[in-house]
Formats: sequence, C-alpha cells, structure tokens
Amino acid sequence: MNIGVIGIGFVGAVTAAVLADQGNSIIALDIDSDKIARFNSGDIPIFEPGLKELILKNKKNLKFTADYKMLRGTEIIFVAVPTPNLNGKINLDYVYRAISSIKSINNDAIIVIKSTVIPGTGSKIKNEFNVNIVSNPEFLREGNAIEDTLHPDRVIVGGEEEYAEKVANVWKFTNSPILITTRENAELIKYASNSFLATKISFINEIANLCEKIPNADVETVAKGMGYDRRIGPLFLKAGIGYGGSCFPKDTEAFIKYAEELGEEMKIIKAAKKVNEDRIGRIIDILGKKFGKIKGLNILQLGISFKENTNDLRESQALKLYHSLIEKGANVMVFDPVNSVEGINFCENLDDCLNDNDIHAVIVATEWPEFKKLENMNIKIPIIDGRRILNPEKFERFIGIGRYCDD
Ligand code: UGA
Repeated sequence: MNIGVIGIGFVGAVTAAVLADQGNSIIALDIDSDKIARFNSGDIPIFEPGLKELILKNKKNLKFTADYKMLRGTEIIFVAVPTPNLNGKINLDYVYRAISSIKSINNDAIIVIKSTVIPGTGSKIKNEFNVNIVSNPEFLREGNAIEDTLHPDRVIVGGEEEYAEKVANVWKFTNSPILITTRENAELIKYASNSFLATKISFINEIANLCEKIPNADVETVAKGMGYDRRIGPLFLKAGIGYGGSCFPKDTEAFIKYAEELGEEMKIIKAAKKVNEDRIGRIIDILGKKFGKIKGLNILQLGISFKENTNDLRESQALKLYHSLIEKGANVMVFDPVNSVEGINFCENLDDCLNDNDIHAVIVATEWPEFKKLENMNIKIPIIDGRRILNPEKFERFIGIGRYCDD
C-alpha cells in the first residue's frame, strides 16, 4: 500500500520502518527539515536498537520528506505527532496542524491517529474536518520498539468498520489479536493501559517503602511471590526510583485532568502520581540517613536516561535525582552508556571512576544491563541500587530500594 506517516519521532520512525519492511511504499514526513536531512543521509537521530539497520535496508520504499505534497495519492496516513501537556492539559495543536495540512492535499486518505489523544478527539476531528478518522493507539516501548511493533500484545483499531478494517489489515502480518471498536474506546484503552501500568509500579514502590522498615524483608522477593499469581503477573512490578519517560507522567496527568473536566476524580491514578513524585526524596532520605548529610558527598551516579537502552532524558527520574543531589550540595559524577549531557560532569570510563578513592557512594539510577558487571568488581564503597538490578550478596555494603537496612 501507499502509506504516509507524519511525525518522525520514535513512534513515527519505527512505524514507517516496519511498514516499509513489510513491502509498503512509505512517505515519512516531518516538518523539521534538519531532521529529514539526517534521515536522508543515514545519520538516524534516534537511538533505538535495530532502527537504523531497518531504515537503511528499506531505503528504496521509505522516503523522508518535509513536503506535504508528497502525501498525494497515499491511501492511509498515520499521524504520530507529539501531544504534549500544557498546564497539565493535553495540547492537540500538532495533531490539528497535521490534519489541516493533510486535508489541503489529500481528502480521500484514511487518517489514522497514533498519537495519544483524549477520548472524543478523533470524532471531534472527523466532524470538524469531514475526514475519515481511525484511532490506532500505540503501545510500543522505547528500547524495544521494533519488536513491540512486529509482535504487539494486541492491535486496537477504533472507527467506522469500513475504514477500521482497512487499517486492521495493515497490521495483520503481526498475527496479534486485533480489537476493532469505537474511536472513543480505542482512545480510552491507551490511557487506561498506561495509567494501570504506572499504578502497578507505584504500588510496588509503596510496598518497597514498607519493606525498608521490616527486618528480613525485601521487595524483590515479595514482588516475585506476587508475580507467580497469574492474575497479577510478574511484569511492571520492579521497585525503583520511579517511572519517567515521555508517556507515563504525561498521560496520567492528562487523564486525571480530562476526567476532572467530566466531573470524575481518578483517585487511584492521582495516588500513583503522588507516590512517583516522592521517589527522589526517598533516595535523598536514604543517603542522608546513611551519611548524616548530603552536602559535600561525592557521588557516582550510574545512568541518566529514563530507562535502559535509550538516550531519552524526557521526565527521567535519574536526571531529576542528579539535579536534586546537586541542589543539596553533593558533587555528582555520572556514567551513562549512551548519554553525555552538557553541563553534567560525565565519567568516560566506568572502571576508572569506580576506582576513584574519593567516591563516597555509587547510586544505580537507570536499569542498564551492563551495570550488572559491578557484581564482579569487588566494590567496597556503599552502593545504592535504585533499580534493584544487582545481587546484594555480591557487595560488602549494599543498600537496595525496598530492602531492610540497619547499616
Ligand atoms: C510506555 C508503555 O510501556 C508503552 O506500552 C507505551 O506505548 C508507551 O509508554 C507510550 O505511551 O508511548 P515507555 O515510556 O517506552 O513505554 O517505557 P516503559 O518501558 O513502560 O517504562 C516507563 C518507566 O517505568 C521507566 O522509567 C522505567 O524505569 C519504569 N519502570 C518500568 C519501573 O520503574 N518499574 C517497572 O517494573 C517497569
């Protein structure tokens, strides 16, 4: 098929690359012409495992452009532009701009909204612009995006049957369950899913707080025991310094606000948000208790991205932790496998930094798998595992989130 994709961020780039690889002809459009130039020259500006290779492999049927006229003749156009929050409320300006640009050059295409939008948005656009709108929310995770697009747990398509079926067909190759429903249900499924996952993380983080007060308790084992129950499941039960990224914080906030306007208070999601906001303070308290002060401490922080396998710093709890430590007077050196951020003191070589005698404590802030190697390094300085990826037995002085510590 001839398919357009608008907004070449993580979601748009991955959608375009995967659909090109399935034999479709893809026009990938972004209004940022510098970004388009980089995609065209093979200098892919997004760090996502396997993405660059897939784009280069499909060069022939994957064209990057900033010119809307190129979308003439496309049958389906995916819109994957950002929907940021403005004062806690979703801002749909980019979506609207994309729709009116499409409308001016192609009135027949089925427009598929991949961007996360509050329920009712698709139908409102349909009525205002008189275009064919289908909702097809995205559930891919950064760092795992290609795999999640090839093998999603489910495909959700919302809209009038005639158009929804056509969009569902595009994803048939995944062999995943496909649910065709109303646009509103599809839009709600996205928010409800992200809010539920955020709640699951905050739930286990609250249990972690309790474990820290109980001799012989460890949240890792509690989560493992809970996870065997198939009704609960083991995933997204990892305690740590909290969730970040471009989705969970933004979506929970927008969902709370949206519900509020309908006269409904989302009490559970509000609590999940509050628990998450308190996570950084919790780590600072653990440090303060251990050393009696934060000011003047030399800290080696491992990880700055919001999670592993990405260079994304948006709403990163690790970045928030860094700023909080600096604000409290600590000297912080950061090691991250892919990031080096201007203004932050970065350590180039992890081994050298770990051997620095002046370091008072090491904090694991992002769950990069390579940090596991610390287990074999005979580290004597206190290590605070803010992501619970390390085996406590391998360290002389281990402090874990959610683990009783009387040291
Ligand atoms: C999330 C959802 O998982 C995707 O399904 C969704 O498509 C995406 O948002 C979106 O709305 O676009 P993503 O933001 O890439 O994906 O990140 P996750 O892997 O979900 O992790 C989010 C945060 O939760 C990270 O900061 C991670 O460190 C944290 N986390 C995750 C935990 O603290 N504990 C866990 O058990 C799992």
